[in-house]
Amino acid sequence: MEKPVNQGWNAGLYDSKIGYVSRLGKGVVELLNPQPNERIIDLGCGTGDLTHVIAQLGASCIGIDESADMVGKARHKYPSISFEVMDGHEFRLDKPVDAVFSNAALHWMKQPERVIESVRLALHEGGRFVAEFGGKRNVGRIYEAIAKVLGDYGIDAEERNPWYFPSVSEYSGLLEAQGFEVRWMELYDRPTELDDGEGGLEHWLDAFAGMFFAGLAEEPKREAYARCSKLLERELYNGQHWIADYRRLRFSAVLGAGRMI
Ligand code: BEZ
Repeated sequence: MEKPVNQGWNAGLYDSKIGYVSRLGKGVVELLNPQPNERIIDLGCGTGDLTHVIAQLGASCIGIDESADMVGKARHKYPSISFEVMDGHEFRLDKPVDAVFSNAALHWMKQPERVIESVRLALHEGGRFVAEFGGKRNVGRIYEAIAKVLGDYGIDAEERNPWYFPSVSEYSGLLEAQGFEVRWMELYDRPTELDDGEGGLEHWLDAFAGMFFAGLAEEPKREAYARCSKLLERELYNGQHWIADYRRLRFSAVLGAGRMI
């Protein structure tokens, strides 16, 4: 499968406008339950806030992210933690780790079998894979609005879709096929209030959906954003904030658990 158009992450925007990504990820850290001295990978670490939370609990945590900008910012913020630029589809480690953690990142990795293979090779037997990301029909209404507006410009949104939002059965099947035992998995609605009041949806589109609008000049792009807002305001704007229709897939899986031999 082709690599999706690069999102072109902006670490400054990520921290100032979408800090809720890390804030809401703290529940996933609780599910991970890191223990002192465990070796843990934070896959798709962004600017490192959750890597830092895990490290503060006494684990030895390495953050990895495909974006050099994100990793640069993470290193600057948390100089005592290791951060590396690596792609989740193909990262390899010298020494196995106890757990791989990931928050709000796996939906950017469109070849999940390759990602799960990387995680499997990174873990020792009995190691944990604990993550949360967008699940089936995540941001479904927002996607429909984007697709409708782009259709009017003759652009097929699906061809540009950079996201992977699986169902419980699909993702647990992929994990089991590579020797993981799924201990727990849930798909749940998590309507998410966006920062910045009236401008929240436009900032979200800039931060997360830029590749859909690639090739449009600034003015038609702003016009397209305004049309998306118009289509969505009745359902997703409460007069003060935009509430994005997030759905999360959260799970905990163990490598090789339950093998009889
Ligand atoms: C998410 O965190 O669910 C998400 C973020 C950006 C685009 C799509 C989904």
